[in-house]
Amino acid sequence: MTDSHHPPVGIDALALACPKAFIAMDTLAEARGVPSAKYTQGLGQEKMAIASPVEDTVTLATAAARRALETFDVDPQSIGTLIVGTETGVDHSKPVAVYVHELLGLPERCRTFETKHACYGASAGLTTSLDWIASGRARGQKALVIAADIASYGLNTPGEPTQGAGAVAMVIGEHPRLLRIHPNTIGDYTRQVMDFWRPLYSKYALADGHYSIECYLEALAGARAAALDGGDEVFDELLACLYHVPFVKMAHKAHRKELECVHHRPFDLDTADDQARFDASYQRLVAPWLSLNAQVGNIYTGSLYLALMDLIRQSQASWADRRVSLFSYGSGCGATYMLGQIAPSAHQWAGHCDPQADLDQRRRLSVGEYEAMIAAVERAERAEKLDPSDWGVLEGLAYVGTQDHQRQYRWLGRDALTPAV
Ligand SMILES: CC(C)(COP(=O)(O)OP(=O)(O)OC[C@H]1O[C@@H](n2cnc3c(N)ncnc32)[C@H](O)[C@@H]1OP(=O)(O)O)[C@@H](O)C(=O)NCCC(=O)NCCS
Repeated sequence: MTDSHHPPVGIDALALACPKAFIAMDTLAEARGVPSAKYTQGLGQEKMAIASPVEDTVTLATAAARRALETFDVDPQSIGTLIVGTETGVDHSKPVAVYVHELLGLPERCRTFETKHACYGASAGLTTSLDWIASGRARGQKALVIAADIASYGLNTPGEPTQGAGAVAMVIGEHPRLLRIHPNTIGDYTRQVMDFWRPLYSKYALADGHYSIECYLEALAGARAAALDGGDEVFDELLACLYHVPFVKMAHKAHRKELECVHHRPFDLDTADDQARFDASYQRLVAPWLSLNAQVGNIYTGSLYLALMDLIRQSQASWADRRVSLFSYGSGCGATYMLGQIAPSAHQWAGHCDPQADLDQRRRLSVGEYEAMIAAVERAERAEKLDPSDWGVLEGLAYVGTQDHQRQYRWLGRDALTPAV
């Protein structure tokens, strides 16, 4: 998969930032009068990260990016492109990326923008960054791509159990330490569909949920065909199949579609043979990398990369050069299927990629606290002054209100002493 004329390019650093609170799915199910198995088994979720009024797309994106740069010792001055993929930006005009740029003290010699295409925006940023490097325009600089979102469908809606919030930051560069991606293994797909959207007047997404699942699966088949161009034999070599994961059970549906594409026939999970074949493949290639998604919920643009992080945090020396597939889907719809290759050094960074300790420290919300938080988030846009300690946010970056129509951010606790990386 490497090309002798070009150095390998791909993902060199990876980090997650998540809100400091969550609601457990069984708690939500009880309040909604739904059997908890519907959410925990039917959708496959355990917990959903919930953003408070002082945590927004800017704070999550900045925290993830700062962690990626610091953990992987990437010089901020080496960043020449900064892209934030999000469908939950904070302004109709001003990109989240330019806030991040200032808050991290990145160099002025930097191209900075936001990409939007539902859950697909960060993947557009990733492939744009790969192209930027491969074209020679980067001249040794690196790209910082951040997938950051707060997924909100509103209380008592079918989408409510598929919410979540968080950001995954990736540094893209030559000779990447984690994952190589070769341009000729990338396939794209686009079709205009109304499966999920958010009108300008609405804070909450509208979705035709079951139709969105159909659109996702069609896009998977389309993007996969574009990527592999009939080369299905690569499937037998894969170490992992990573999918966009709006909820964990979606990866199950996606993998069934993948097997149908590989074998050119429907997979009937009511027959013992197909069920056994599917289960073996799913347990080996998909299930082991879904634990972070189950604990965080839907983070829209970052969901695929959360599954990648789960894979990398478990990586072993023997995985060097093994291939993985990645499928990114954004409603509306746009999709990309690509092949990656585990970098030989990835296993040395496994511990650095593991966000488990942070996830374990989150605060568990009651339903009352969760609903109060959602109501307060609705008012936060126009609040002049917000106190982060009211929401248990004592460190990191916080949104502290909007003054003169301008959003205000503040580093807290020990982070206030060393705000830039
Ligand atoms: C995902 C979504 C469509 C589910 O909506 P819903 O109509 O409330 O839920 P369903 O009735 O389909 O049930 C969900 C799953 O739980 C299962 N289930 C229902 N009750 C159950 C129970 N008591 N025990 C175990 N499983 C149960 C269903 O069989 C179904 O699984 P399946 O799809 O594998 O058959 C909805 O949450 C949504 O619209 N989400 C936002 C859009 C989205 O995430 N789209 C994804 C593609 S981008």
